[in-house]
Amino acid sequence: MDDEKFVDINSNCDAGDERFVELRDFFMKEFCKRPEFFVKVPGRVNLIGEHVDYSGFPVLPMAISQNILCAVCQNDDDIIQLKNIQSKYKGFKCSINHIKIDVPAKGTYPAWHNYFLCGIQGIIEYLQKIGETPRKGFSVAVSGNIPPASGLSSSSALVCSATLTTAFINDVPLNKQLLATLSASCERYIGTQGGGMDQAIAFLAKKGCAQYIEFNPVRATPVKLPEDSVFVIANSLSEANKAATSDFNQRVVECKIATKLLAKLTDRPWQDVEKMIQLQSEILDVEYEEFENLVKKHLTKDVYTKAELMDIFHLKEHEFNEKMLTTNTKDAKEFKLRQRALHVIQECIRVDHFCKIANQTDEDDEEDAIDQLSELLTKSHNSLKTLYECSHPNLDELVNISKSFGVGARLTGAGWGGCIVGLTDSISTCDKYIATLSDSYYDKIPHSKNFDLNEVVFATEPQNGAEIFIAEFS
Ligand code: GLA
Repeated sequence: MDDEKFVDINSNCDAGDERFVELRDFFMKEFCKRPEFFVKVPGRVNLIGEHVDYSGFPVLPMAISQNILCAVCQNDDDIIQLKNIQSKYKGFKCSINHIKIDVPAKGTYPAWHNYFLCGIQGIIEYLQKIGETPRKGFSVAVSGNIPPASGLSSSSALVCSATLTTAFINDVPLNKQLLATLSASCERYIGTQGGGMDQAIAFLAKKGCAQYIEFNPVRATPVKLPEDSVFVIANSLSEANKAATSDFNQRVVECKIATKLLAKLTDRPWQDVEKMIQLQSEILDVEYEEFENLVKKHLTKDVYTKAELMDIFHLKEHEFNEKMLTTNTKDAKEFKLRQRALHVIQECIRVDHFCKIANQTDEDDEEDAIDQLSELLTKSHNSLKTLYECSHPNLDELVNISKSFGVGARLTGAGWGGCIVGLTDSISTCDKYIATLSDSYYDKIPHSKNFDLNEVVFATEPQNGAEIFIAEFS
């Protein structure tokens, strides 16, 4: 058996980690019994390759040390009970046979337990496919320290915790690839059409390296980062919840429509092509650069209206809605196809460059490599800001302050708020950089006083993916 393929099951809880003990005590107080096992799933920071995964292209994230920790015990009946150690997140209870996921109304956030239910539902459907039914309910106490709505994947970590918990209880093989794929599809029950990066890195992450993640099927290749590089995450403290607006799905549908339109304009079949990578690598069979030229040549307009697209594709409105749009984008009237497609393909070129530079680095050209990588981060941010329009003035400000200090940085995650990631060349530069961000950004934001600055701006190192710990305390 290839151990690398399966989630690690550790026979002992990390006695040094106070959160295990605190969560065990909370669990025992809430449920009057001991937890049987713990599940730990990390958040992630994406280094480069933003908004390309749902078009099928590779990304380069790494797991961070902030995570979702769950203490779990099976129940004797069919009841699922969820409690969160933070009292602002209300407890939830239902039967495992009657899971109902609430899709949020426009402008509202989904309640936290819905993400957990997505994961449970994903495994229930998997069991049904192989002719089985879930055994029993279970009680779960959750403790999370990934800042929510900050682009560090707190929601996906919660979904993945639920798939892993439900899979473990029901003897589903803990194959990382299987769990990553199931988690990516079941998270879509919440309404957002994410691409799979977050769930893939949650399971496939490795301590000490970033992972080059490819999709369909999902797979990861470790990328070693230059020895002296230190990545810093800085939270803009502007929250962005991608499930609360249609912005994210609007980008997903724009990429899909851009792909179909380019297929049509290059006389290729457009009906069945869904993802840009299919068109680029299989149907047109061209390199990224040539694809970029085709986008520039054929997608000439700044804005395409729904009416003209219906005309070009010979579709009636209900057909267009059904083929091209999602529930929360069906009222969209305008689409920026050229800009979105250009961002995607140019970002793919940057991902390739980034990996090449990182992989080639030897000690002599470390400094040069970090400069080149920083430059790619800055370019990525500019593209996300101008072509993809998913930045936020506070993210731009953080990136500008970084640039003036000499650090390349970019928004990370979906955007519209959340965090930036910056690349420094040593621990000492990193310390000075954090001090600069503190003086020039955080000191000027009144509500930053409500936060512990160490949790808002910090250096980060690549961590392992999801793990299980059998609950034995020394
Ligand atoms: C969110 C989605 C991911 C990815 C990023 C943007 O985190 O969940 O799948 O699309 O946004 O790169």
